[in-house]
Amino acid sequence: MKISVIGTGYVGLVTGVALSDIGHHVTCIDIDPAKVAKLRSGKPTIYEPGLEELMVKNIEQGRLFFTSEHEEGLKGSEVIYIAVGTPQREDGSANLNYVEQAAIDIATHMTNDVIVVTKSTVPVGTNFHIKEILHQHKQHDIKISIASNPEFLREGSAIKDTFEGDRIIIGTEDPQTADIIEAINAPFNVSVQKTDVLSAEMIKYSSNAFLATKISFINEIANICEKTGANVEEVAKGMGFDKRIGKQFLRAGIGYGGSCFPKDTNALVQIAGNHHYDFDLLKAVINVNNDQQRLLIDKIIDRFGSIEGKQVAVIGLAFKPNTDDIRESPALVIIPELVNLGSNVIAYDPIAIENTKKELTVDIEYTDHLDTALQNADFTVIITDWPEIKHINLKRFEDLMKQPIVFDGRNCYNLDQVKNTTLEYYSIGRPNHIPELIG
Ligand code: UGA
Repeated sequence: MKISVIGTGYVGLVTGVALSDIGHHVTCIDIDPAKVAKLRSGKPTIYEPGLEELMVKNIEQGRLFFTSEHEEGLKGSEVIYIAVGTPQREDGSANLNYVEQAAIDIATHMTNDVIVVTKSTVPVGTNFHIKEILHQHKQHDIKISIASNPEFLREGSAIKDTFEGDRIIIGTEDPQTADIIEAINAPFNVSVQKTDVLSAEMIKYSSNAFLATKISFINEIANICEKTGANVEEVAKGMGFDKRIGKQFLRAGIGYGGSCFPKDTNALVQIAGNHHYDFDLLKAVINVNNDQQRLLIDKIIDRFGSIEGKQVAVIGLAFKPNTDDIRESPALVIIPELVNLGSNVIAYDPIAIENTKKELTVDIEYTDHLDTALQNADFTVIITDWPEIKHINLKRFEDLMKQPIVFDGRNCYNLDQVKNTTLEYYSIGRPNHIPELIG
């Protein structure tokens, strides 16, 4: 099948590469010529384990192409995927400018019948709006069908999620279009649900909102555990045995970040509001997450009172491990707070430093050596559970820091492990380890 993908961000690039890998002829289109030049040379513009190998292989085998010219990229395509960004507007709603422009570009250039598939996360009803634009702007008497095919991949495991996904959702207006999209995806061998367009759009928002709810729920349980003396990890484990609850997404921490949950939860509140429905539960989920991102600051103030002049190692900047993405990372909330409170921050991350520098305006030091960050620190704040942070020998905190005081926002260490050290250790929803008091 001859396929085009508009947009080479996370979703677009992974979709294009994966579709070429299962045998389709895929052209990815992006308006940025510099990006296209890099992609053509087999270099991904995002950090994603396993992506580069697949890109190189499919470029070499003549199935994967990149261009910044819509006319060239769309020519003769039977199916076109829209995978451009839908950034958040100030009021929380999704900005559809890029999606609308993609629809205009398709309509202007297509000379043959085509199916337009929306991968981007778009508010319920947007596919029909896209259909209107396509029909308004088309230059030839061609048949254009639409499909909503939302994406469920996670950053950092996008390739695995695409090839071993839980489901493929195909929302169309007619069974023939659904059959074609199903056939395209058949080699992935993932369960398919064919449904109507509006439900497909809603499935995406509801899934992300539900996962965000699970996280905020366990984070509130964690906060209650701290007050009652229970251990949230034991509680989550016990809850997770119940198959109706499930084990996943019950890891307490300093809240969810990234380009999806914060944006999509806000957008769903907006969508509901536009239909005069107050989504109280989801609003609470968002508020809990905002508070949770500040939680370590409260613990630090409780411990020290003032942190004026203290040297702080902030380890981990990305919103989660295996990505250089820092969008909505708790680091962006915590670091400015630490600086405002008068401390000197030295921040470590294996790959997210450049992105953080672009985003943070406060004056801090950066290092890509974990030990340099820890050296002489008065206390350490853990923001991301990178493997090298999770598997660090705890002796390194004791040996390198001025005092081994650690505030762990991701529950990286087993409390049994910490028990045998001189670490003063504060985590989320679990008892503190304070050596003097324990004896
Ligand atoms: C999320 C969804 O998991 C994907 O299914 C979806 O396709 C994607 O959004 C999207 O809409 O594009 P992603 O944002 O890449 O994927 O990251 P996740 O791995 O889901 O993690 C999101 C955040 O939740 C991270 O900050 C992570 O630290 C946090 N989290 C996750 C927790 O705090 N606790 C958990 O138990 C799980």
